[in-house]
Amino acid sequence: MGKRALVAYGTKSGATGEIAAAIGDVLAQAGLDVDVRRAGHVRGVENYDLVVLGSAVYMGRWLHEARRLLSRRDLEGCEVWLFSSGPVGEQARGREGEKWTRPPRITRRGERIGAHDHVVFGGSVSEHGGGFLRRNMAKSIDPAFRDLRDWDEIAVWASKIASAHAE
Ligand SMILES: Cc1cc2nc3c(=O)[nH]c(=O)nc-3n(C[C@H](O)[C@H](O)[C@H](O)COP(=O)(O)O)c2cc1C
Repeated sequence: MGKRALVAYGTKSGATGEIAAAIGDVLAQAGLDVDVRRAGHVRGVENYDLVVLGSAVYMGRWLHEARRLLSRRDLEGCEVWLFSSGPVGEQARGREGEKWTRPPRITRRGERIGAHDHVVFGGSVSEHGGGFLRRNMAKSIDPAFRDLRDWDEIAVWASKIASAHAE
């Protein structure tokens, strides 16, 4: 049996869950034994060799469920890989203010527990569903820039994780 991997994610509207699923697919194809779960549904990480943990970023912060999982003591004994997801809109790529896309507290916590990475992937906003703020934000963005999740970039990162944990 391959190494056991958990891909856990914090989400409000589902976009980050799809990123987690894509990462999980790559790890599973590489022969790892993978669970993909919402961070709030994870009871413990002691059964896993590696944990990929990500969150959607809102107002410069990770979501509570993901922060909570990141602060767990038992995570300190795991191989950990972190991702944030959020930037949308035309300015997203060259945007100043890294702290709004890669929350510094998360990076620091990652460094303390020896996480391998804290990468940032583009996010997605939809004008359907969600609250007033989300719908307004989506409407203010050119439709071509509402979903900036780059599936190739995500797959490349996941392959790097898979290679780092090859048997
Ligand atoms: C009210 C609001 C605030 C947001 N704040 C940020 C932010 O500070 N930084 C960022 O990178 N993305 C921000 N975003 C974009 C979201 O992180 C992005 O839409 C993400 O993909 C949502 O993921 P989810 O569907 O998994 O919740 C914000 C979106 C909304 C609607």
